[in-house]
Amino acid sequence: VKRGKSRKAARPLALLVLAAGKGTRLSTAPSAPPKVLVECLGVPLLDHVRRAVAPLGADPIVVVVGHGADAVGAWLSERWPRARAVRQEPQLGTGHAVRIAMESIPDFDGDVLVVYGDVPQLETADLERLLAAHRAKDASASLLTGVVDDPGRLGRVLRDAKGAFQRIVEAKDAGRKAKVLAVREFNTGIYAFRARPLRTALVALPRANAQGEEYATDALGRIAARGERVEAVLSADPASLLGVNTLEDLAAAYSVLRRRTLTAHLARGVAVVDPDTTVIEVDASIEAGARILPFSHVGRGCRIAAGAIVGPFARLRGGSVIGPGAEVGNFVEVKATTLEAGAKAKHLAYLGDAVVGEGANIGCGTITANFDGQRKHRTVIGARARIGSGTVLVAPVRVGEGGVTGANAVVLAGRDVPPGVTVVGVPARPVAPRKGPRTPAAATPEPPEDGP
Ligand code: UD1
Ligand code: MG
Repeated sequence: VKRGKSRKAARPLALLVLAAGKGTRLSTAPSAPPKVLVECLGVPLLDHVRRAVAPLGADPIVVVVGHGADAVGAWLSERWPRARAVRQEPQLGTGHAVRIAMESIPDFDGDVLVVYGDVPQLETADLERLLAAHRAKDASASLLTGVVDDPGRLGRVLRDAKGAFQRIVEAKDAGRKAKVLAVREFNTGIYAFRARPLRTALVALPRANAQGEEYATDALGRIAARGERVEAVLSADPASLLGVNTLEDLAAAYSVLRRRTLTAHLARGVAVVDPDTTVIEVDASIEAGARILPFSHVGRGCRIAAGAIVGPFARLRGGSVIGPGAEVGNFVEVKATTLEAGAKAKHLAYLGDAVVGEGANIGCGTITANFDGQRKHRTVIGARARIGSGTVLVAPVRVGEGGVTGANAVVLAGRDVPPGVTVVGVPARPVAPRKGPRTPAAATPEPPEDGP
């Protein structure tokens, strides 16, 4: 059997995610979620990390939890069942977190990738580059680094005269050493280790430092000091590898992820007219040929078909479905609702827990009153129905195919509008069908050339 290089890629890979931190700087409210469960573009920070690491196929996956451990544990069992939570109590530093994680997988041998749970901008490509360099150089440890003019509070990467990695010095421990603080290369905190040298380096890490903590960075220094190879891999976009600590960081991550998502939709042929004012959360599936007009917000997991037009100023909440050629216009909120092919709701409406049938038209100011104070109820609007301006549909209620409601009609719960019937008034009652083109439903404020 051939040994060495050709077998390196087959080395098992474990993933450790450090996620025990509190996130005090994001919110001090008692009800605030633990930091890694704070949402960014529709999903928690930790879910972005899960997405970035997924293609690596690591097994086992250990997530170190501490603050909000129960909430994070519950989230993991639902959304990331392949990950196992390991409790770190108390939190005695990043080195302590890695040690506890390694102790939970005592038999594992291979490579160990370490990432933080609060780095939502993490990209698979960076991790692949780190692992590739780590394996190609046969390093005992590797780290991703970045270079900026002033790395602030981050750990500085010190190299020897030949450029080989020596150790990391935390800014807090540099004291007044201007020479250390002047180093522009910083530690991102993302590492790949060989399991064995890592285990050895984690034994009795010193806590005699500014934070009184066990530092993961010291494990790297120890491995280098023993004369083993530590590879520092420079990242092209180090800003994307920095964790979220403050609200400002969270906003910066949001902005990057938002832009990335929009760019991907544009590349696939979705006409996002103004990416500067559009938000599309994660997991929206939008067919090529759909148009998203400015100032629109498309929630997580929405589906939008080809030929649909959304916006300007539309809000599609998570999971809504906009069918082929359907239109959602300005100041329309759509929640857990399906608009079937060619259905239109073009102005000022709330559609919640509803189905709007093919070709139906929702007049300006229509509201589905879906909440009775305790429970949500459904509204079903049939194909080609015409809902007059200002109609209130009190759910649960149905409007049959081709049914019509007059302006300001209030259709009470359970008082379904039969197919083809026109209802008017408060509460809405059927009227005898009139001859001629103008029914009360036609009283929308729209000029004729724009169409209903
Ligand atoms: C750490 C690095 C620093 C690097 C920086 C990059 C150390 C000692 N320093 O800084 O060199 O520049 O990351 O962001 O490692 N965590 C736990 N348990 C703990 C402590 C932390 O799970 O006991 C988690 C936190 O939730 C967080 C991550 O580890 O996700 C990093 O911790 P944080 O305190 O933000 O990093 P620093 O110590 O500031
Ligand atoms: Mg710290």
